[in-house]
Amino acid sequence: MSRARILVVDSGLGGLSVAHAIRQQFPSVSMIYCADYAAFPYGDWAQNDLQDHLMGQISAWIEACQPDAVVIACNTASTLILPGLRAKFELPFVGTVPAIKPAAAITQTKMISVLATPGTVTRDYTHGLLREFARDIDVALVGSPNLAGLVEQWFLEGASPKLKAAIGDELEPCFKRASNGTQTDSIVLACTHFPLLKGLFQQLAPWPVHWLDPSTAIARQVGKVLGATGAVEGSGSFEVLSSQPGSEQRVQRVWEKLTAQSGSSLTDQG
Ligand code: DGL
Repeated sequence: MSRARILVVDSGLGGLSVAHAIRQQFPSVSMIYCADYAAFPYGDWAQNDLQDHLMGQISAWIEACQPDAVVIACNTASTLILPGLRAKFELPFVGTVPAIKPAAAITQTKMISVLATPGTVTRDYTHGLLREFARDIDVALVGSPNLAGLVEQWFLEGASPKLKAAIGDELEPCFKRASNGTQTDSIVLACTHFPLLKGLFQQLAPWPVHWLDPSTAIARQVGKVLGATGAVEGSGSFEVLSSQPGSEQRVQRVWEKLTAQSGSSLTDQG
């Protein structure tokens, strides 16, 4: 069997939620984690500027690393750049897009929220998913400008009551109650940073809901594309590249913390 090396790309720590699910399903796949800290956060970039930036930065990483597959572990980027990358490179790409279809299938109350970056909630791609799968559902699109940054702070600076309260404030608009008492029962985690703190989100929720985290499904898709190219083995290594030199070690430290709780799901974090 040939060796598989995959790139996992995000603006910062968020893609680690996807990398963690990949590592759980495929322990020996080698990953190169590409953190685009120089451009963090992607969420509030103007669409055209972000598109140009992503094409340049991701192309440079692909050309430098020559991977077997690329995982765009970021909703804000995937909903914008996947067609362009697929047209440019003959490589398998796996994207991360809002889990609106499974949320629409699971909701009992027909009230769901999509918690994402401001960029993702405005994308045509996201609105296409809503038209296709959620026509009969009351959907709250919650584009949080701060939450990805707060998740970074939680991991890099440590937890604090102030930070916990700020995270609670960002979650609050996801919880809707109609005049007849019907409530939101499903929340799509449409930014890869958010599953990293799913345990904390559960604690802060005013009532229990389904939290839709696509990481496991993305990891399954990675297995499929690697299987299709015959490359399903590797050395199990995890290297970090960053567009902001000096930030690699902190990503590596968070990765080690996440993977140290072996076998645990990220639901336990926070
Ligand atoms: N983790 C990214 C996502 O899935 C975006 C975070 C950001 O840079 O704003 O959308």
